[in-house]
Amino acid sequence: MLWSTLLALPLAAAAPSGLEWAKRQGGTTMLRFGCAQVVIDRLDPLVNPGQLPSTHMHQIVGGNMFNATMTTGDVSQGASCTTCAFSKDFSNYWTANLYFKARNGSYKRVKQLGAANQFSDNFSTQIGGGILIYYVSASPGKVTAFKPGFRMLVGDPGKRTPNVKLQNCYRCYTGPNFGGDNAAPCADGKLDTIGLPTDVCKGGIRSNILFPTCWDGVNLDSPDHKSHVAYPSSGPAAFLSLGGNCPASHPVRIPQLMYEVVWDTTPFNNKADWPTDGSQPFYLSYGDNTGYGQHADYVFGWQGNELQIGMDATNCMGAKCKTMVNQDIAKAKACSVKSRVNEEKDAWISKLPGMEM
Ligand SMILES: *[C@@H]1O[C@H](CO)[C@@H](O)[C@H](O)[C@H]1NC(C)=O
Ligand SMILES: *[C@@H]1O[C@H](CO)[C@@H](O)[C@H](O)[C@H]1NC(C)=O
Ligand SMILES: *[C@@H]1O[C@H](CO)[C@@H](O)[C@H](O)[C@H]1NC(C)=O
Repeated sequence: MLWSTLLALPLAAAAPSGLEWAKRQGGTTMLRFGCAQVVIDRLDPLVNPGQLPSTHMHQIVGGNMFNATMTTGDVSQGASCTTCAFSKDFSNYWTANLYFKARNGSYKRVKQLGAANQFSDNFSTQIGGGILIYYVSASPGKVTAFKPGFRMLVGDPGKRTPNVKLQNCYRCYTGPNFGGDNAAPCADGKLDTIGLPTDVCKGGIRSNILFPTCWDGVNLDSPDHKSHVAYPSSGPAAFLSLGGNCPASHPVRIPQLMYEVVWDTTPFNNKADWPTDGSQPFYLSYGDNTGYGQHADYVFGWQGNELQIGMDATNCMGAKCKTMVNQDIAKAKACSVKSRVNEEKDAWISKLPGMEM
């Protein structure tokens, strides 16, 4: 996504650069950086702790502490490497994988791409298989970074009815090289949809998942992994809500965390291979071809005060920010976690792992 356009969005007509807009707001930071794949596995330490395998497959990025069980505590203390551009970010970020279902009923996993070249740093364009992560802070007022042990979940894999578009949406890329990557996430009336696109996307499909920006200030987690955080009670939702008011129950403003996943669906764009009833053939790993059940998990794992440094900085855009420490892509890609559930991840398969269909 073109973040200068993104940050200019609240001003509608005038479109200054991201930095220019940030200065006018009195200080905005948008960390936007890639994290390469650390493992693909059927684990979910938040929702199904200790379960090997968990209910469905995930694409996981970040630190190498990721495991079937991740007890509370400071994961940055246990991890020895990370796949993220910021070398002190040992957090884990994960989402569902996407699969193509062929006419004969077989499935094949759709590969994830890196970030669009024209708007990105050299690290983030090379994270094929990874996820692009955003942390945004904007005035007015302070944004409080997450604390060690903090975790949260957004979305619900059981949901099959539409979401709030500005919190969870899909962009249908119109052509090669991320064609149509030209508006704030979930804000384009035509290219962004609440459900998975119903027709061929010539440049692939992007998923944006936006986490709540308000915290109860006390709990690092909650039984449903959601109730300790909330979306703003007033003002527009999600990315446009940075100035929105937090409800009294969740008074602490936290960074706007967003995941951006790009699937290279282009090898599956031949409509002759699509279902004869005209439906679209892509399924999320928990057996959903509506896309409404898209969800994302987060376990905070930045070392020390590093994320707060970023959130307190002004005018940082992208994958570099003042004193925050980076690493190069080769080092990031050398970091991985061994898969614990041995299942096929690349070949054609007769059913989605864990799904009775
Ligand atoms: C995951 O947990 C298992 C069991 O506690 C342990 O044997 C393994 O080393 C852990 N893996 C990582 C990557 O920490
Ligand atoms: C199903 O269709 C796909 C795509 O045409 C093909 O590659 C695969 O081999 C087929 N699988 C079976 C079991 O026939
Ligand atoms: C990215 O890498 C390419 C090739 O290694 C180089 O030509 C280009 O200048 C780099 N761009 C930036 C912004 O570092």
